[in-house]
Amino acid sequence: MAVLGALSVTLMVPELEPGVKFYTDAGLKSSIETGIARFRCEGQNRDSIVLMGGSGRKLLHHISLRADDLPGISAQVRAAGGEVVKTPGHFTDGGVWIKDPHGMLIHLSECEEDPQLDVAPRFEVNAPGRLVRKRRSAMQPGAAYRPAKPLRLGHILVFSPDVAASVRFMTDALGMALADRAQDIIAFCCARANSDHHIVAFAKSAAIGFHHASFQVADPDEVGRGGRALVAKAGRGDWGFGRHTIGSNFFHYVQDPWGSWFEYFSDMDHIDDYSKWTPTNYAMEDSLANWGPPVPHDFVHNYEVGSG
Ligand SMILES: [Fe+2]
Repeated sequence: MAVLGALSVTLMVPELEPGVKFYTDAGLKSSIETGIARFRCEGQNRDSIVLMGGSGRKLLHHISLRADDLPGISAQVRAAGGEVVKTPGHFTDGGVWIKDPHGMLIHLSECEEDPQLDVAPRFEVNAPGRLVRKRRSAMQPGAAYRPAKPLRLGHILVFSPDVAASVRFMTDALGMALADRAQDIIAFCCARANSDHHIVAFAKSAAIGFHHASFQVADPDEVGRGGRALVAKAGRGDWGFGRHTIGSNFFHYVQDPWGSWFEYFSDMDHIDDYSKWTPTNYAMEDSLANWGPPVPHDFVHNYEVGSG
């Protein structure tokens, strides 16, 4: 009985239009009905981002995770400090709805695994003593490349007033595991088998809130190229191109219309069997990046705290 993967993030926002522009510019496919905009990766049959309009400001409504044995999870939620709650409002997705100890709403559903992604072309690097590419260029002229194409939602990072308590709930109630952490400021949770390094992560803040959703693209070049193109269209902050220490992924973050972030990633660490993985507690200097541009002043600011 455990969480197996990330499905989606649902946000309440003041207006849908800026979000529709942002996420379609990012390469997601949109569908819009009255008051709701949904976004999915091309080739997938489910949504990854859902925006509900009409809120006074941007607020995390819930995260959705794929899981198995929902009755087993439900039986553990209360003892772990959370509660099983009624299906909110007009949602008809089925599954189980729970609140974690800080009131963050989590939707669990026993849906099918996503179809396998096509095998990507090998990302080749000529290195000392290892020439793998000869008599041909790695790069084509920039115009030859199509816009970045998010392949799947890999992970969701949310704020928590008590990161250690959030991790305890994810492990005790939801059968996840601690991949790595940096003190009690940021922590990364994975599934116990066949998992990206992190599926749900927590960063310390005064309250809960949404920080970023991260989408896999084909290779590191597409992270950099897609990030540059999106920040030019979005017109707000960005952070990247860089590489994380924790999880090892290349990243480029672009700020959404409400101050939270969209991440393109490539080359995430993979944990096929958690019993053979040892979590590391990193120093704070390794909590954000191994290398990259200076961190934006509001990169870890929770815009959902306070009045607005
Ligand atoms: Fe991330």
